Parts: sequence; C-alpha cells; structure tokens
Amino acid sequence: MTNTANTPVPVIKAPAEPGNDAFRALGGPLTRDIWYVALTAGELKTGTLYKKKFLNEPIVMGRDETGAPFALRDLCPHRGVPLSAGRLLDEPDGAKSVQCPYHGWRFRPDGGCLHIPSLVEGQSFDLENIKVRRYHLAEQDDLIWIYMPADPNSAPDHPPPRFANMVLKKGQAEAKVKYVETAELACHQDHAVIGLLDPAHTPFVHKSPLWRSSKTLKEKEKHYKPSEMGFTMLSHKPVNSYIYNIIGGEIRVEIQFLLPGLRAESIRNRTRGFLGLAAITPIDENLCEIREIMYWDAPILNLVKLIARPFTRAFLQQDARMMKLQGEGLSYNPPLMQIPDADTLMVWYRRLKREWMKSRMEGRPFMNPVEPAVLRWRT
Ligand code: FES
Ligand SMILES: [Fe+2]
Repeated sequence: MTNTANTPVPVIKAPAEPGNDAFRALGGPLTRDIWYVALTAGELKTGTLYKKKFLNEPIVMGRDETGAPFALRDLCPHRGVPLSAGRLLDEPDGAKSVQCPYHGWRFRPDGGCLHIPSLVEGQSFDLENIKVRRYHLAEQDDLIWIYMPADPNSAPDHPPPRFANMVLKKGQAEAKVKYVETAELACHQDHAVIGLLDPAHTPFVHKSPLWRSSKTLKEKEKHYKPSEMGFTMLSHKPVNSYIYNIIGGEIRVEIQFLLPGLRAESIRNRTRGFLGLAAITPIDENLCEIREIMYWDAPILNLVKLIARPFTRAFLQQDARMMKLQGEGLSYNPPLMQIPDADTLMVWYRRLKREWMKSRMEGRPFMNPVEPAVLRWRT
C-alpha cells in the first residue's frame, strides 16, 4: 500500500491482512462511549476527594453519604478552580457536598449547586441553573468504572463488562480484589493496548527467572473466537509458568480481550481459580495508567502475594520502559509494520476500535469484525 494522499499518513510495509488502513504512529482518537477502570474500590476512601484526569478531562471523585462513588468535572463553574482542592462536607440533612476552595460554593454529588455563601436575602439567583458536569460510575467486583461518553450529555447504554470465569466464592455476588499493581505508561492508548496484546515481546522485554528467556523460543498455536466486544483465546492447557504450578492440578487458561483495553486471563483447575485483569485507562494522548488487578480463590496465593509483588512491579516497569523507548522513535512519526501472525491481535484491536467508533457515530449496533482464527508464532 502506498501513500497517495498529501497527508503525512505512514505507510504499512507488510500488511498482516488485506484491507488494513495506515497504521498511525501517533495513535487515533481515544475510545469513547465506553467504560474504563477508574480506580479500585479501596483507592476511593470515604471522606476524601480524589483528583484524576481521564481522557484529558479533569475529574474529581468521592463517595456520597451512602458510600456510593460519584465523579464530577474538576472545575468550578464560577471561576474554574479545581473542586478537588476543596472539601467534602456533611450537610445538615446528612448529605455530602463538595465545597469549592475559592468562594465556597457547594455542590451535590450529582453536580447541582446547593449553596452560594455570598448571596444575601433578596438577591434572586436561581441555583438550579448551575451545574457541574457529572460522570456515570459503576462499582462492581471491587472496581470503580467510569463511563467516558463522546457527547458529555449522554448516559451509558450498556453496563461495564463482567468477566466470564469471575472468581467468586459460593454465595458471593461480588468478587474482591486480592492484589493490584499500578503503573504509568508514557504512550498513547493505542500503543499501550497493542503492547498488552503483543505476544512476541514477552521473551525479550520480560526476561526473568519466572518467565522464560529469549533463548528458549517455542512455536505456539492459539485458537481465537470473537466475543461481544473483543476476542477470546480459547481455553487451553498452558505451557508452564509459576502461577500455574502454584495452583496445580489440571489447569485450563482462557484469555479474553475487550475494548477499550482490557485483558482478562483466567486460570482454573477443578476447584481453584485465578483471574488477572490488566486494564489500560488513558490519562491523555501521551499517558496511560495500567492496573494489574488480581482475583483468586486459591488460598496458597495469599502467601505467594508478598513474594510476588516485586516481580509484578518489575514486569510492569519493563513494559513502561519499552513504551518510553518506543515513544522516542514514534515522535518522528515513522511508518510501522504488521507481520503475520504475531501482529494479528493488534490488527484486530484496531479493527474493533474502528468499528466501535463507527457504530457509535452511526447509532447502530456494534458488529464484531473479528472472525474465528488459529494463529501461530514463536515466543
Ligand atoms: S471559583 Fe469556585 S466558588 Fe468561586
Ligand atoms: Fe509486556
């Protein structure tokens, strides 16, 4: 494929599949009209305000009087001061409010203005018209999800994803996070997600006694099928890794990928289970947050947790370092390549994202462009 237009679109030298569009070094628009992992429930403490930026939007988060999470645009409508610099107050009726630190205006968790201290008797001013933009949140399986719409006024029309094989004890409706590790990736959402899906970097970037080194590459064959909002590597018997050996028994592994950037790996034997969820949330065009969130019902893993922390941290830092290095090269907006079959998951991600945005724009149901496939690579 050659670049015929005058626009500086990079050329794909080796398309993995026909019909590829140009693979942009600089990344496309951030995925919207979709749920992102904002925080783990434990990170959002009662009584405090939490300042965040997601998809380039300033956001303040907190918990209301019932403990339910809320999120508002972190910008006072009066003169633009971040509300997160203010205080979370208890109103006389027991409700919570957010007080701006500049002139003390107070806002309800739904964004409505409750009080303007400087107004005196007779100064008629309708507080009803003053509103801070509110974001839709959902608390589920110990995670707080935030819906990032394309149109600020639109509400979610679908719930956040729930993973198949969620690790739940008998009689338990919600899973509890057992372990979380967070890192920043200095790159665009697309490169963070592509890195997450990329099988071929593992033996080179994640060299560790716990993972295999690049000297022992083995040929693999993986079976995939489309899912509601992504694709799934079908349940299979894994090649060894420390976590499989710890859980023991007849292990089955299944890996799901879902838009906007969620990779869930479920490992089970007949009685025990583990779910590792990697969630990428863009802060802006050049920075992402990645969370490795783990659930399990294998008591042995409670012991392993302490020993495993340095390794998980190192693992994330290895990716963070590579994203930073890649950023050096991408700043020159070079043409990029896609090869069979190790880059096919990346091709699928880009197709899924494109179809997601197109379906939202056209107001029609999402049609998964991924077909069942068998992919092979040496890693
Ligand atoms: S800027 Fe927030 S009350 Fe004035
Ligand atoms: Fe990695």
